[in-house]
Formats: sequence, structure tokens, C-alpha cells
Amino acid sequence: MPPNEEAAPALLIERNARIQKWAKALPGPLRSVIRAIWHAWLHLLASRAWVRDFAIPVALTALARVLVGLLEQQGLEALGSNAFTESAFDISVLLATMAFVRWSITWGVPAMMANVRDIAAATQEPKREFLRELSTEEVATTRAIVRGLTGTGYRVEHPTELRPWFEKFFDKGGGEYIGVDSHGPGDYMAQFEWFLDAHASSLKDRGIPKRDRRVLTTPKQELALELRHRKSDYQSFYRWHLDHFVDITWMDSHKAAKLRRRYGIGDADVALWENFAVLFEGDETGCLTLQMWFPGEAERGGTTYERISQFVADILGGSMPLEEVAPGLDLVDRELAEEWINYLDPKRRSSDGVGTFLSEALSGSRFVLDAAGGIGADSVHLLSRGYHVTTNEVDELLRAQAEQYASSQGVRLNMIGLLWEDLPDQLPGNMKFEAIICLGNSLCLVDDTRSRVQCLRAFQSILVDGGTLVIDERNFQLMLDNAHSIEADPIANFPASTMGDVMYQGKKLRGYPAHIDRATRTVSWRFFRNSPPIENRGELEARRLGGPDLLLHAFSHGELFDLLKQAGFGNVDVYADLLPLAHDADSMPDLTAVGQADFITYVARI
Ligand SMILES: C[S@@+](CC[C@H](N)C(=O)[O-])C[C@H]1O[C@@H](n2cnc3c(N)ncnc32)[C@H](O)[C@@H]1O
Repeated sequence: MPPNEEAAPALLIERNARIQKWAKALPGPLRSVIRAIWHAWLHLLASRAWVRDFAIPVALTALARVLVGLLEQQGLEALGSNAFTESAFDISVLLATMAFVRWSITWGVPAMMANVRDIAAATQEPKREFLRELSTEEVATTRAIVRGLTGTGYRVEHPTELRPWFEKFFDKGGGEYIGVDSHGPGDYMAQFEWFLDAHASSLKDRGIPKRDRRVLTTPKQELALELRHRKSDYQSFYRWHLDHFVDITWMDSHKAAKLRRRYGIGDADVALWENFAVLFEGDETGCLTLQMWFPGEAERGGTTYERISQFVADILGGSMPLEEVAPGLDLVDRELAEEWINYLDPKRRSSDGVGTFLSEALSGSRFVLDAAGGIGADSVHLLSRGYHVTTNEVDELLRAQAEQYASSQGVRLNMIGLLWEDLPDQLPGNMKFEAIICLGNSLCLVDDTRSRVQCLRAFQSILVDGGTLVIDERNFQLMLDNAHSIEADPIANFPASTMGDVMYQGKKLRGYPAHIDRATRTVSWRFFRNSPPIENRGELEARRLGGPDLLLHAFSHGELFDLLKQAGFGNVDVYADLLPLAHDADSMPDLTAVGQADFITYVARI
């Protein structure tokens, strides 16, 4: 662009800066009053076009006329009664008002107006239709962006197009950046690496070390799943933050959801700077809708810049460094963790059958891993029988219960908290065990076949030669085959729901398959209080525990047996409600042999 064309906006900006400097010289309170009046005036002008272009000039002209009338009543000769002077006065006031309105709506944006005027001038020629259309469309797009960002949102179909926008956000945002994002680390890395690039170049441009921060508000389970399925993206994301000195913390999504509601943030992710906040919300089609809020502006869409800042401060205050978040499972909520003891009833579990069964299954083994420790009932039982037990519990609420239960029994657990798939890599000192137990219908909590095999292989690889895995499942085939009658009346058609079963013998808290999805082979397991004992289906809902259902993979008949073989276990014995079933070494006993048993247990050897 030739220098003289750039000069006009530069001069205008300079003039504007002069006005602002002059305004700064006024006393504070006066400045606030002028600013408030000015903002109210701009607000009025921003309303409908007919108000701005017609109603305001006419009203101001009428007002001027009333004032003149008042002056004349005071005996001051203002216009006299000459129709010509009166009309000339009215027209002058009207034109002056219109000019003032025009000037008002553009006074803060001289550089932009200079450009618009230039475009208008350069496209006026009758033959320049093409240029006129092109620039009209471009200006209309800009208008839609500005209106969207400051209104109900601007929707972008391909989020990667936003990279230059975010470069600008980082450039103009001022101060430090704080982001609140609902994506998991792996997902973030895969989808928004371009955003991290924009962030990185802003950090470079800003030079001075900044304490930018990013908080993830993802369900803990998602962190665990990502660590399982997209480990390298997860790690790259984490490393990016270390490399760029950006704090990365995490807050549980349930906790964040409460704050989101309190501050009117909805489901949006937040990018906050000193000069503005950007909220962006994705939808299932992959589009992103952006909105902006600026300090000191009125509430819009249930929030303001100040409320967004407070939201971000609360999220930051309640978050913890990502590296300190055990990549555990958020399997149970606090209420269920505390009540698990009433579901399991440790005394009855170790005396009625399970204790004897374990003694036989583990005979010859001394070093045992209780892979799904839960509240530590089986570990405590085995420790009291002289086994060397390592207890693994990855859910921190259950882990706390296990420690509490063990100390109530005068025992100290040797605890670890690892995902099964990580056991081979992360067990301290490359430990190996003579036996592993994984009881209480636990493997079905792993959500896909590939991962279930991976877990079984992990178990296999940390057993010594000839070691034993004791693992169980509920009789899911029975549930799948009787889904309709069980769902219709679980109390009548699924006796374990109130009577207890061989593994979970507690009476005060019970669980039942509330929903059995045969197509996806998933069971939603729901817990309810059973004290006093429930009598009919109708009471189930009222006694339901507050937390979400456990989602269980419903193994088909023989599926777990086959997976064990696939994972390298050569010899697999099968038990129905802890009683041995006769079968060929290479095949699962018949469905009829399993019958109505609640649990199927496998004692598998390498
Ligand atoms: C239904 S509870 C059973 C707990 C205990 N064995 C009992 O009988 O009460 C399921 C257990 O599986 C564990 N679990 C599920 N998925 C896991 C995974 N991928 N890695 C490690 N533990 C897992 C949970 O932490 C929990 O201890």
C-alpha cells in the first residue's frame, strides 16, 4: 500500500489518542459521568436504524424547538415569528443532529472508517460492479462476525480456520492467558494442536516469561481412557506444557459443572485475557461457536466478563496439577464407596465359601496381587492367613475405604493404584506374583474387547511361570437371556437383587441390572438401600443411591474363557457359584452346567 494511503488512518488514530489523553486530564468523577452518558448514547445509537436515523434527530430538533420556546417565554428574542428563520433553524438543527449521530457512531473507529470510505470511493465508478460486490460481501462477512461475537455467537465450520483469530486474540488479549477446556489431553492434542501452535508463537512474541495457565475439566475416567488409548497424544500434550512453562491443571468435570451453572457459562470452553474473554462451544458436527465478552459491559446471555473472570478464578483455585492426578478411575462416587462394605459384607465373604475357595485356588502361592482391591476385604482376609499381599486399587475413593477397613481390622495394606494395563510397566521393581486375584465382577468394567485382552495379558506377564489368575464375572448370559423379565421385575426375577449372592452378601445395600441392552451387551448396574428390606419393584426407585449406574460389559457365555486362552493362560478351571464344573481343557462348560449361578469364577494358570 502506498504510504499516503496508510497515513490517513494513522493520523486519525493519532487524533483519537489525543482526545483520550485530553479526557484523562479531567477529574475522575467527571470522567466517569461523561463516560456513562457517552456509553448510554452509543448504546441508544446501536439500537434500531430508524431510531438512530429518524427518531433521535427529529426528537432532538423538537427539543431544540421547545427550548427556544421557553427562551422566548422569558422574553428573549430567539427566532421571532418569521417562518423562514424558524424553518432554517429546524433544518439546521436536524442536519447538525444527523451529523452528530453519524460522527458518534464512528468516532471510536477512525481507521476503520477511513478504510470503508476508501473502499466506497474506489468502487463508485459505474463499471466497477465486480469490486463493489466483492467488497460489499467482505464487509457483510465482517459485520456478521462482529455481530455474532458480541451477540448470540459466530459459528465456524472448520475450527482450524480460527488459527489466525487466535493469534490475534493472543496478540490483543493483554496480560496472561488462562484457558478452561473440557477436552481430555489426548483429544486436545489430536484436535487442537493448531491452537497450541498459536499459543506457542504468542509466548515467543510476548518474550517476557508469562504465567499462562490451562485447566482441563474432563471426567477423571476420560483421563484414564485417554491414557489407555492415546497415550502418546496425552504425553505430548503434557510435555508441551512443560516445554512452554504453561501451568496445566485439572478439575473434576462434576465440580466444574456446578461452577459453570453458577456463573452462566454453559458448556463452553473459556479463553480469558485482560481485555476480553472468548467462549467457544463445539457441537457434534465439529463446528465451533464463538462469543466475546469485554470488561465493564452489560450482562449478555446470562454472564459478563467479570463473572467469567470469577468463574476462571474459582476453577483455577480448585484445580490440581495434572501430573498429580492419579490416572485412576472415577468408578464410584463417595456415597457408594462408603456403602460398599454394606454391599460386600467382608465377614460373610471370607467365612461363607469365598475364604475356603481362595485357600484352595491359591494353594502353593504366597505372593499375591489383589488386582481389584476395592475396600480391601479379600486382601485383609489373605493377609490374616499369612499371604504376602499387594493391594491394587485405582479408584481413590475406594482406596481410602480400603485403608480405613484394613486399619479397623488392625492390618496395614501394601497399596498401589495402577491401571491393569499399566501394571507391567509401572509395578515398582518389576515385581512378579505367584497369584493374582481379580474378583467381584471387575473385568467387565473395562469398556472394549481389545483393552480387556490387554488387561489379561498384563496379568499374565506379571505372573511367575506356573502362576495363577483367579478372576470372575457375573452370569451375564443369564441376564441377557432373561432381559425382559428381569427389567420388568428385578425383585421377582433376579433373586440376587435382594437376597445377595456368593460374592456380595451384604443385605443393607444391594444392586440389580436396571437396564440390560442386548444389542450392545451392556448392563447398567444400579444400587439401592435395602434396609428395611425392599418388598416390591415400586420401592426400587425411591431407595436408589444418588450416583450413576455402573456400566458393565455383559460377557456372552464362554467369552471370558476364550479371552483367558487368548491371553496365554493354558489351563482354565471353571466354577459356578464357587463349585467346580467338569469340562474339556479347551472349552467352556455348557450353559446348562452354569445354570442359575450368579457368579462364574475362573482359576487360570499359565
Ligand atoms: C466392582 S469393583 C470390585 C472390587 C472388589 N474386588 C470387590 O469385590 O469388592 C471393581 C474393581 O475393578 C477395578 N477396576 C476396574 N477397571 C480397572 C482398570 N482398568 N484398572 C485397574 N482397576 C480397575 C476398580 O478399581 C474396582 O476395584
